Amino acid sequence: METITVKDLSFKPFISEEELDVAIKKVAQKINEDYKGKTPIFLGVLNGSFMFMGDLMKSINLDCYTSFVKMASYEGTESTGKINELIGLNEDIEGKDIILVEDIVDTGNTLVKLFDILKEKNPKSIKIATLLYKPEAYNKDHKIDYVGKEIPNAFVLGYGLDYDGLGRNLSSIYVLKD
Ligand code: IMP
Repeated sequence: METITVKDLSFKPFISEEELDVAIKKVAQKINEDYKGKTPIFLGVLNGSFMFMGDLMKSINLDCYTSFVKMASYEGTESTGKINELIGLNEDIEGKDIILVEDIVDTGNTLVKLFDILKEKNPKSIKIATLLYKPEAYNKDHKIDYVGKEIPNAFVLGYGLDYDGLGRNLSSIYVLKD
């Protein structure tokens, strides 16, 4: 693996496919233990989680539902300000165990918004699984239940994560070169 260029930026190899595999299987194993006998709903947060979700689900041995949601954000009226809307949730999650599947938790803003929207629908529980977590950037109190890998506060690319829409298709993770 070598340096790659996406638009105006250069990236170097950071997390290999093998390392991702180990991290993802570790998360799956923990979830399999914690949810034994339950039928959770895995909700992947698009776009970034599609690769993680795909690989994670292959190692989940529970009866479970699998679905995807997306956060849409648009300008509301002057009094409402920015509106965050959850799109794609077709199932009734009342009384259900939800596992939110994220590509990366950075500041935690997205996660908290999602959490608040889902909580209003009265699920039995909501837990968070993220492939990557930047503890130095995270400024919320919410517990992150399942973390594939903690990373420093740097910009990463690949395996679902993009730079300006590009790079999601890379099978391993790259980091911005300084
Ligand atoms: P947060 O709301 O700050 O936690 O950021 C969450 C979203 O920002 C993620 O779901 C990603 O889409 C994006 N993001 C955060 N850090 C990175 C990164 O290093 N590379 C690519 N996208 C990122």
